[in-house]
Amino acid sequence: MVSARLADTPRWLRHHGGKPADGRICRPAGAPAGLSRGLGHGGTQRPALADDPGADASPTKPEPRPPACGGGISLPPEPAGGRRAGRSACWGAELLSERGRVEPSAGRAVLRCDALRARSVAVHLLERPLGWATCRPVAGCEEGAETEGDRHARRRLGSAPHGQGRLRQRRLDPAGGAGALTGGCGGERAMDTPTIGILGGYGNVGRHLVRLLLQHTEAHLVVAGRHLLRAREFARECNAQAGSERVCATYAHPMEPDSLKHAFDGAQLLILASPTGRFAEQTALAALEMGCDWLDVQFYTPKLEALHHLRERIESAGRCFVTDAGFAPGLPALLVRYAATQLEPLEVANVFAVINPQGGFPKTPSLYEFARELMRCRYGAYRDGQWRFSSGLGLGEVRQSEFGFAFGTRTCLPLLLEEMRALPERLPSLQETGFYIAGFNWLVDWVGAPLLWLTGRMFPTLWVRPMANLLHWATRVFSTPPHGAILRLESCGWREGGRQNLVVQLYHPDPYLFTAAAVAAGVLQYLRGEGRKPGLWFAGYLYDPDTTLQEMRAMGVQMTQQRSPIRGACPFCRR
Ligand SMILES: NC(=O)c1ccc[n+]([C@@H]2O[C@H](COP(=O)([O-])OP(=O)(O)OC[C@H]3O[C@@H](n4cnc5c(N)ncnc54)[C@H](OP(=O)(O)O)[C@@H]3O)[C@@H](O)[C@H]2O)c1
Repeated sequence: MVSARLADTPRWLRHHGGKPADGRICRPAGAPAGLSRGLGHGGTQRPALADDPGADASPTKPEPRPPACGGGISLPPEPAGGRRAGRSACWGAELLSERGRVEPSAGRAVLRCDALRARSVAVHLLERPLGWATCRPVAGCEEGAETEGDRHARRRLGSAPHGQGRLRQRRLDPAGGAGALTGGCGGERAMDTPTIGILGGYGNVGRHLVRLLLQHTEAHLVVAGRHLLRAREFARECNAQAGSERVCATYAHPMEPDSLKHAFDGAQLLILASPTGRFAEQTALAALEMGCDWLDVQFYTPKLEALHHLRERIESAGRCFVTDAGFAPGLPALLVRYAATQLEPLEVANVFAVINPQGGFPKTPSLYEFARELMRCRYGAYRDGQWRFSSGLGLGEVRQSEFGFAFGTRTCLPLLLEEMRALPERLPSLQETGFYIAGFNWLVDWVGAPLLWLTGRMFPTLWVRPMANLLHWATRVFSTPPHGAILRLESCGWREGGRQNLVVQLYHPDPYLFTAAAVAAGVLQYLRGEGRKPGLWFAGYLYDPDTTLQEMRAMGVQMTQQRSPIRGACPFCRR
């Protein structure tokens, strides 16, 4: 029995018998000290520029970048850095030659134009970060007539009228001097006010999270992503709504660790609300170098291995790294822990989920991550003291649950979440547990799910995009009301000398807000200190279940709870 269980356990958990102690994630014994998945810094690093202040700096050290102003753009004629950078270079050269005179100068191409045109070029650079162009003053720039394009650029940059503008470089120093481009965070901050960085802070989950943190905390928030203009717009909107200047925006991309350090320098906590799980190692290393804690929301199992390899460094640095926060993963293990506080001993605790976003799953970068995860996922549940895995779609272990809220009774598949794996170790009385997910609609269930399973086993990388498109289309066109997300715990155990059932149900009409509320509830505990312990943790094990559920209710998640004595056989385990 034991060997079967170990065989089903991922390689990095086997050395610990598949049981991360007390919810902390164990490091694989004998695992290599670092992981390299070909996403190292070297290939994506911005090439050094001759007159770039950071040209000679080590790639791991933040470059001191004084704000440049004036009227010129300089770029290397042939930037290195692979196909993508090469394409960007062509695009950049075209853009520049449209807007001014490009002259070779000391082995570089220099755009000679007036400050305003240079500013409009900068807008394009902001929108499509090239990773290598810098904006620098160039002697001899002439004033030119303001064109419609320039006016548009000026409006978008919110800058001074023609001739008086200042051009700043694309990467920003969030601590100071960035006010002109960040929506107003460049000013002074109270020393005791925490700063939280949110990569992907203007995405589906991120935007709800930022709003909740604005409402429920005093923290300063730095939202970042690849599109500075989108980040700035969102920051402005939030600041206007909150009547404060607590949100600022900046550019960051995990493939450019320096950009992370520039963006989140001084932050206590970095929240990953972006589908960047494949860069977990680079991002975690940057967080460790910055000396900040980590909280990720990503549904991307391979990131766990990358984080495991850093576990010792995290612990020795005294950092708190929390992974798998959110709706699912995130809440299922926490709900089982909640049941254990109500029923003693707890015998059965299964968690069921239904997700039906209005308008289907949006076609944003996270959909690819989600599709990939569904393609690689395993099906299985814990029964009679061991994990049972299905080789197919888990049809042998399907269950039905009555969700109410007009969702009715749904058939659910046993999806294996890593966070559930440690539960039987923590709660030895548990005989049955698992996470079950309900279908989306007939097309996804009968066509999409088998295809996802099949393609996940045959050339998965080729199929991610078509499968994500299928998920988007099928959930947009074929989904019917009611919309929203439900998480339902069905459990049984003992209380006051008799067997009892406990059912807890959480519901919110917006699955992304639901996820954000679960994350924000953890952040509130983190800020109070009770949710911060050094080490690497699953969110479902670190946060206090009762407090989390209370906080989530305060954020608008509906919760119902029902406890009833069992007469005869338990409706959930039939025992
Ligand atoms: N645990 C749960 O229950 C749960 C539920 C839902 C979602 N999630 C996870 O939460 C994460 C976010 O989901 P979402 O739907 O909010 O994602 P999204 O809207 O597709 O993207 C979120 C943000 O990430 C930014 N982003 C994307 N790629 C980036 C990159 N390479 N570097 C920097 N920023 C990048 C996007 O901005 P730019 O494109 O402008 O960069 C966007 O602002 C995903 O990992 C998803 O799997 C978890």
